Amino acid sequence: MVRRIHIFDTTLRDGEQAPRCSMNLAEKLEVARQLEKLGVDVMEAGFPAASPGDLAAVREIAGCIRHSRVAALARAIESDIDAAWEALRKAESPRIHTFIATSPIHMQSKLRMTPAEVVAQAEWAVRHARRYCSDVEFSAEDASRSDPEFLCQVFTAAVRAGATVINIPDTVGYTYPAEFSALVSLIASRIKDIGPVQISVHCHNDLGLAVANSLAAIQAGADQVECTINGLGERAGNAALEEIVMALHTRRDLFDCATGIVTSQIFSTSRLVSKVTGVPVQINKAIVGENAFAHEAGIHQHGVLANRSTYEIMTPESIGLPRNALVLGKHSGRHAFEARLAHLGFSLGPEEINRIFAEFKILADRKKTVTDRDIEALARGASAVVPETWRLERFAVHSGTGMSAACNVCLVHKDGSSIEKAAVGDGPVDAAFKAIDAIVGRTLELEDFRLTSVTAGEDAQGEAMVRIRNDGKTWNGHGLSTDILEASIKAYLSAINTMVWEEASYA
Ligand code: KIV
Ligand code: ZN
Repeated sequence: MVRRIHIFDTTLRDGEQAPRCSMNLAEKLEVARQLEKLGVDVMEAGFPAASPGDLAAVREIAGCIRHSRVAALARAIESDIDAAWEALRKAESPRIHTFIATSPIHMQSKLRMTPAEVVAQAEWAVRHARRYCSDVEFSAEDASRSDPEFLCQVFTAAVRAGATVINIPDTVGYTYPAEFSALVSLIASRIKDIGPVQISVHCHNDLGLAVANSLAAIQAGADQVECTINGLGERAGNAALEEIVMALHTRRDLFDCATGIVTSQIFSTSRLVSKVTGVPVQINKAIVGENAFAHEAGIHQHGVLANRSTYEIMTPESIGLPRNALVLGKHSGRHAFEARLAHLGFSLGPEEINRIFAEFKILADRKKTVTDRDIEALARGASAVVPETWRLERFAVHSGTGMSAACNVCLVHKDGSSIEKAAVGDGPVDAAFKAIDAIVGRTLELEDFRLTSVTAGEDAQGEAMVRIRNDGKTWNGHGLSTDILEASIKAYLSAINTMVWEEASYA
C-alpha cells in the first residue's frame, strides 16, 4: 500500500512570524479557507500566547475550518498551553503543539535549564496539554544540533506522557540530507516501539536544503512534513509545501508516497499568500514561479512542440495553471466567465460571481483581451471578506514635471453619503493618499507601496499593494486597475477598510 504523508502547513504561524509577512485577521481567515481547499492535513493557525490578536485569529480559524486539523503553538509552559486550548476549544479537530529546545546551546544560553530539567518539563507539558486535547504534538527545538541520544530520551518521555506526534525541527537550517535521514531513522526505530506515534520533521532553509532535508526524512520514515506556501518563514524560510508535494507527486516511482493535497489548488494558494503578505514569488521559483513552465530557448520550444515530456516533468495543469488560456473579451457571456472561474479553481457564490462579472465587463471594455491572470486577480480581490466602508466614486489628477501634483478624490461611505476633498502632494499617489486621509479623518503612515503588472502589454492591469501603519499596527491592501493611480487608490482604500472593520470588530 502507498504510504500516506501528512502535510502540516505552518504558513499562518512560522510563515507569518517572518518580518514583513504579517497578516491581519481577515487575511488569515482567507488563507485558512484556501489551505482547507488545498487539502492540508493540519494547519498551524498561530501562537495564541504571543498576543491577544494571535489568540483571536486562532479562535476564528478554529471556528470555521472543518476538514483540516487546526493546531496552535505553545511553549512548554502552563500559560502558553492554556492560551492554546482557549483558542482551539471550538475546533472540530484541534491539536496543541508544544515545544522546548534540546540543543546544548539553547538549553544553556536561552533556557538556563539542565538536560534533566528539560526532559521533566517536556513530559509535564505534554501531560498538561493532553488534559485538554487528545492530539498533542511535541517538538524538540533545534533537534538537528542536539545530542541524538538525549533527543531519544526527550521524545521517549513525551510519548509516554501522551504525545501523538513528535517533531524533529532543523530550526536553524543546519543539517544535510544524509545526516538528517540518519537522525530520523534512529528516532523512528527507538520511538515507534513505545506507542502509536507519528514522526514529523520541520526544516528551515538557511542553506537552501529545507526541501531536500524534508524529502530525505520522508525516505527515512517520517510520516508528517511541516512546510509553508512559497517557502515563507523565519530568515530564509521553511520548506516550500508546493515543492515537497510536487516532488512526491512527480517522483512517485521513487518515493511511493501520496499526500491529500489537491495539487490543482497549488497555484491559486501561492498567489493568494503572495497577495496578502505582499511578498512576491521569485520569477524562477520552482513550481509556482512565473517562469516555472516557460520555454524560451528555441531548442527547448522545438522539443516541447514535438513532445512536451522532452522538457516538462510535470504539467502546468497539475498545479492549476491552465495551458491553453481561453481568451475572454467584452462579448463573452456570464456562462463562459463562470466556467473559466471554476476551471481556475474558484468556487464562489452567485453574489460574488455577479460582482466580479460586472468588474470583468468594465475591464473588457478597457482591455482588448482578458487573460486568466486578469480573471484570477479579479477573483482573488472579490473573495476578500472585509466589508467596504469606503468606496471610490471618482478622482482627477493634475501632475507634471517640476511641479507638485494635485488630486481630487470623491469617496462614498457605506451610509450613502459622499465626500470630496483635494490635496497636493509629492507626486500623484502621495496627493491622492493625502486627499483620502482628509476624507476619512486619519493621518496614516504608508509603510510599503508596490506596483506590478498582472500581464504583459500596454493595456496590462496594474496591481498595487500598500501597507499602512496606525497606532503600531499594520494593514495590507490591494487594488487592481488598468490605471495605476486607480489601482493605488483602491489598494489604499482596501487597507483602510480592513483597519476600520478590525477596529469595529475588536473594539
Ligand atoms: O523552527 C522551529 O524549531 C519551530 C518549532 C517551534 C517547531 O518553528
Ligand atoms: Zn520553524
